Amino acid sequence: MAKVLVTGGTGFIAAHIIVQLLERGYHVVTTVRSDDKGRAVLNVHNSTDVKDRLSYKIVKDVAQPGAYDEAVRSIANLDFVIHTTSPVVFSVEDPVRDMLEPAVNGTTNILKAVKAYAPSVKRVVLLSSYAAMRDDDRKPPPVYDESWWNPITWEEAVQNPKKTYQGSKALSERAAWDFMRDENPSFELVAINPSRVFGPAAPHLITGELDKVNTTNMVILDMVQGKMKDKLEPTGFYSWVGVRDVALAHVRALEVPEAAGRRFFLIAGYHSNKEIVEIIKSMSHELAVRLPADLDKFEVDIPGPGERYGFDNKQSREVLGIEYASLQTTIKETVESFVKLGA
Ligand SMILES: *[C@@H]1O[C@H](CO)[C@@H](O)[C@H](O)[C@H]1NC(C)=O
Ligand SMILES: *[C@@H]1O[C@H](CO)[C@@H](O)[C@H](O)[C@H]1NC(C)=O
Ligand SMILES: *[C@@H]1O[C@H](CO)[C@@H](O)[C@H](O)[C@H]1NC(C)=O
Repeated sequence: MAKVLVTGGTGFIAAHIIVQLLERGYHVVTTVRSDDKGRAVLNVHNSTDVKDRLSYKIVKDVAQPGAYDEAVRSIANLDFVIHTTSPVVFSVEDPVRDMLEPAVNGTTNILKAVKAYAPSVKRVVLLSSYAAMRDDDRKPPPVYDESWWNPITWEEAVQNPKKTYQGSKALSERAAWDFMRDENPSFELVAINPSRVFGPAAPHLITGELDKVNTTNMVILDMVQGKMKDKLEPTGFYSWVGVRDVALAHVRALEVPEAAGRRFFLIAGYHSNKEIVEIIKSMSHELAVRLPADLDKFEVDIPGPGERYGFDNKQSREVLGIEYASLQTTIKETVESFVKLGA
């Protein structure tokens, strides 16, 4: 069975990708920053039918020149790469050093390493983001599909702290397609551009590690922990996709011939915090008492039709065969995973 390198194996999305690859019989090598993290990933995949198909390599700093060379060179007969790593940012003092260069360097470093040292690789799948597509300044908001590109420049991303994160996503995906054009490597590239991702916590987290649920799921954890009992926070970003669908899209992106050279927008629908709270309250009395008693006093606080962006997720359904999970199912699974971890 084919061998896949998944970078950043302890990431929320990467962890779910690894689960699905192993279930389908792939051999998986992942990169992590330390032995502890590598062992945490190996520990959950400990059944006899999978444990011989999973291993890890350490890559300490993905931004440094040649970061992936040694890891990639040391893996024999690699067929595919899924690049999910995004730099761990503790604080952004310098937007270039702490955010933009790590993201862009990490992406070009893996592509360079594959081109130089892994000629057997047929395809690289890049975890990009809806942030690489959106143009938030455009009025009225458009109907987004894969043809859209966030027009941000490096200079804007440096100068406007509110745009640095989005910029890091847009600039790193652009760098990947530029690499394909300029370097003409023998592998194909596919980009996956998910909206905000909700879903069960990474399977390697253990009881007591709720502090590591540091993702777009955080808002759901806050609700479950009663932090919004008196005050429902505004929804803010209002479209989402489930992590299992995101993981499956990466796997299908390796397998489906027509996916080559394309990007895929993954988006299941709109959501509001009020809807999420309603779903959680319906799950059990014990959970309901941690949430606002009277939901009727809250409005659904997302823009109405005509004021919000539209979306077209046809490519993901037709080419990758994604059948999007509902908000209800996704929120319930997410909450159940938090309860299991001790929430
Ligand atoms: C195997 O993994 C499960 C979680 O998937 C864990 O509960 C169990 O302790 C692990 N067993 C060993 C021997 O590590
Ligand atoms: C990014 O790569 C360049 C060389 O390509 C290097 O000079 C720079 O230091 C790297 N950035 C970081 C944050 O490591
Ligand atoms: C979550 O991540 C942010 C940056 O991405 C960091 O500043 C913060 O300390 C992290 N929180 C926890 C609890 O790890």
